[in-house]
Amino acid sequence: MCGIIGFTGSKNAAEVLVDGLAELEYRGYDSAGIACFTAPSAITTIKTVGKVSQLRASIPFGFTASCGIGHTRWATHGGVTQANAHPHSCGHVTLIHNGIIENYLSLRDELTATGRIPVSQTDSEIAAMLIDSLYTGDAYQAIRDAAARLEGAYAFCILFADQPDTIYCIRKGSPLVACHSEIGSVIASDMVALLRYSKDYFVLSEDQIACLKPEGITVTTLAGEAVCPEYQTVTWDVSSAQKNGFKHYMEKEIHEQPDALSRTIMPRLSKHTDNDCCYTLPDLSADGIPDSLFENLHRIIITACGTAMHAGMMGKILFERLLRIPVTVDIASEFRYQNPILDENTLVITVSQSGETADTLAALRLARAQGARTLSIVNVKGSSIARESDHVLYTHAGPEIAVASTKAYTAQLSAFYLIAFRAAYALKKLSAADCAHLTSQLLTVVSDIHTVLADKAVTEEIGRHLIKADDLFFIGRSMDYALSCEGSIKLKEISYIHSEAYAAGELKHGTLSLITSEIPVIALATQQDVLAKMISNVKEVRARGAFVILITTEAAVVEEGLYDYRINIPVCEDLFAPFSAAVYLQLIAYHTSYLRGLDVDQPRHLAKSVTVE
Ligand code: F6R
Repeated sequence: MCGIIGFTGSKNAAEVLVDGLAELEYRGYDSAGIACFTAPSAITTIKTVGKVSQLRASIPFGFTASCGIGHTRWATHGGVTQANAHPHSCGHVTLIHNGIIENYLSLRDELTATGRIPVSQTDSEIAAMLIDSLYTGDAYQAIRDAAARLEGAYAFCILFADQPDTIYCIRKGSPLVACHSEIGSVIASDMVALLRYSKDYFVLSEDQIACLKPEGITVTTLAGEAVCPEYQTVTWDVSSAQKNGFKHYMEKEIHEQPDALSRTIMPRLSKHTDNDCCYTLPDLSADGIPDSLFENLHRIIITACGTAMHAGMMGKILFERLLRIPVTVDIASEFRYQNPILDENTLVITVSQSGETADTLAALRLARAQGARTLSIVNVKGSSIARESDHVLYTHAGPEIAVASTKAYTAQLSAFYLIAFRAAYALKKLSAADCAHLTSQLLTVVSDIHTVLADKAVTEEIGRHLIKADDLFFIGRSMDYALSCEGSIKLKEISYIHSEAYAAGELKHGTLSLITSEIPVIALATQQDVLAKMISNVKEVRARGAFVILITTEAAVVEEGLYDYRINIPVCEDLFAPFSAAVYLQLIAYHTSYLRGLDVDQPRHLAKSVTVE
């Protein structure tokens, strides 16, 4: 949450910062600001409530600077006001902050007692006050001393008024990546803001200090020892993080799913000979995931947040079906405080697009500390969760910019399928022939998604109907229930229509009383083994007048009077139905939001990367 960027070099810093903030805006968008050196010891700060476009408009014509810092905010401490917008200044110090300082109240009391008066309600300004109070001309010492006093999570970019063209940075919990290119040195919370300058970057490690100057970046440990940062190269280019002719990032990302899935699945397939027959099977050895990871497991725990957790719900069904090992799925923010029972025979799988979600990261740390085996499914290379897991399976979805996750979700699903198939084969629960068959079916989802994308008209028509709704239900059983949870979050987060996902069989235990002719119900019925039961549940809501949108298969025999719209997903084995059905649900959510005239990519109150608890 919150996007931060710092630049020092030969280009106009105001331009570099605002362009970078526009790329980072998905991380927070309630206010934005920059602070730049406009003379050797003069720092000018410009901040506005609203989006980065408003900040851009408020920068005076001809404003130039060679060094500065910029921030786009997702409010935590204090409302959305100009005073609470970053950067914050105190004395010699001007800074931007991503994270939460947990002990800011006690620090505020201590610092105000020395005569410093905060002008905002933020914890970040207190951090600026603290660093200023510790500054006697040695920036490193002040930052070190401040780090010893600050509790919580932070990524800071700091200007000292008497050190022109220099930016100091430190992080704990919240991410920072940096690069040096021909225009100078850049640091930001996410690679997308660096891409136009360099494909080579490094992740600043926790408790290291980076000092950016136009000629280069120096990294030291807190103890002052020099560190040689480990550079990595991004494999995607700047166009991956642009809209490329689509109206919205979400629409573009929905359409990128066939590629995202191919990139995630294909490199993990290899030929294997068994009894003189050659089979194509998942192979995770190049990812450093040995078959022994799945041996002697008593239990698997999948933990994540939001959409990533919904992918985990699908993972549970797959693992239990194929491996016959008990699996639980836990919301990461609950798991971390539940004192879970973990040991070396437990595999904890964390799932995260960003790899930075604070609760998921904390769950992973807890699992490792208690001796569990850990495996993460992560999209962002080099992110904290990826770096701290024993094993990582990267989804190769490419950068996901829209706040509502789409391609990352289906890529996470495909990762679960690969892991489940490989583990079942390794544990001899699947023969090579059966595993190869399932693997070939997984590959067909790519063309199925192409088919769904060509069938957009029906989802737009459904969207036109849903825009009038105040409440809505998604119902399904087994895999379709896991998918209902995802359909519901997708719709509510971008259309602001209240919706709930319900296990279809559970409705009659209370919730059926809410079903009236005003309530649309999206019923998912793609699973043959529970189809008859599911149709009975559709009858129950229909009998109460519900407007029914049925997502099912061509083969399902359903009386016409039971639905208002029927979508048949492309023909596939039931196990693979979630992919096509998910894309239909994403398109329904997308059209509903767009037709309601809402901000599809940046829904209110949300942010893409949730690095606070
Ligand atoms: C919803 C959505 C969120 C994220 C959740 C976890 O569309 O995107 O629910 O899935 O915040 O984020 P990551 O996957 O980055 O850990």
